[in-house]
Parts: sequence; C-alpha cells; structure tokens
Amino acid sequence: MCSYCGCQAITVVGRFMAEHDEIINATGAMVRAAASGDAAEVRETAKVVARLLNPHTHAEEVGLFSVMREQEEFTEHIDVLCGEHSSLDVLLELVANGDLARAPEFEKALRTHIDKEDNGLFPAAAMSLDGPEWDRVDASTPAAEAPVTDGRGHLLRPDQGGGQAPDHGPDHHHDHGHDHEHDHGHDHGHDHGHDHGHDHGTAHTHPHP
Ligand SMILES: [Fe+2]
Repeated sequence: MCSYCGCQAITVVGRFMAEHDEIINATGAMVRAAASGDAAEVRETAKVVARLLNPHTHAEEVGLFSVMREQEEFTEHIDVLCGEHSSLDVLLELVANGDLARAPEFEKALRTHIDKEDNGLFPAAAMSLDGPEWDRVDASTPAAEAPVTDGRGHLLRPDQGGGQAPDHGPDHHHDHGHDHEHDHGHDHGHDHGHDHGHDHGTAHTHPHP
C-alpha cells in the first residue's frame, strides 16, 4: 500500500499509540515504587517516565496537533490536551521530588489524557485530515528517539536515519534525515516517486486500534 493512501497516517498515529503504552508501563513501575515508599526508586523511575513522555508530547504538539489546530472545530480541544501535557509534567515533577502520594493521581490523569487521544483525537484526525495535511504532519513530527513497535512486535521505525514505513520497499525514498536537531518547519523533500493524484478521501477511514 502506498504511504500516501493512509498507511503513513496510521504510522504516525500508531507510533503515538505505541508510545502511550510505553509511558503507561513506565508509570506502572513508578507507582509501584511509590507504593513501597522507596523515594530513590521513584526518582529513578520518574526519570524514565519523563524521558518517554517529554519527546512524545513535544512530537504530538509540533506535528499532529499544530495541523489539527487549524481546523476550528478542534482548536479548543487541542488547547485542552496541551494544557494536560503541561499539568502532567508538573505532577510528574512533584512525584519525582518526593510527593509519592500523588503517583496514583499522575497515573489516573495520564490514562484519562491518553484515552482522549487514542479514542477521540486520533480517530478524528484519521477522518478529518487529507493527504497534504498528513504530509505536513509527517514533515513537522520529530523522529522517535528510540525504535518503537506497534505493540505486535513490528518495528514502526527500525533505524534512526531512514523512513517510518519499513514495508514500503525500495521504491519509497523517504529521505527524512530525522536523526539530528532540526527546524521542524522545513521541507523534508519527500521523493516518493509515485502518483500523488489519487483520491485520499477514503484512505483515512482505515480502521485502527
Ligand atoms: Fe499522547
């Protein structure tokens, strides 16, 4: 399947959902450490959560959220989600610094927030954004900092320098060069070598988890 027919869109969303699972798993370790009263272990596990959470929320905000925000019907909801990103950061910092009793509160807020994205915003994005908009999402989304799986053991991003769609074969030259600090607004110059003129309308209705 061509990446412009929707699979690329789902790759971005699939990556975010896989990262959600990783963040929730890391949070579980932190909550268990807090329950046992081990402040040092909480500090260490909170660092792991932050290392996963911070680049994830940044990637969402500068990529998908910034494009969706342009549609008036989503602007307010995106603002709420961005506010939740900030309040999660604050709460995580408090827990990391010794307020162990608030670890469950962080986990609850995180799960509620992720549910809004997985079951609200992402399906809405799949339905609402067209091909060129997904192209802009892709161009403005920083690469994941580590290989991410789709939850079924398939790598969504097997290397640091290549494309995000490993199954597309040699004809797709996604020369993203994501493995460096860069201006997120630049043009990635996709050289897909295929016809972009097909209908994107049906592609983004693909079911996804
Ligand atoms: Fe998220």
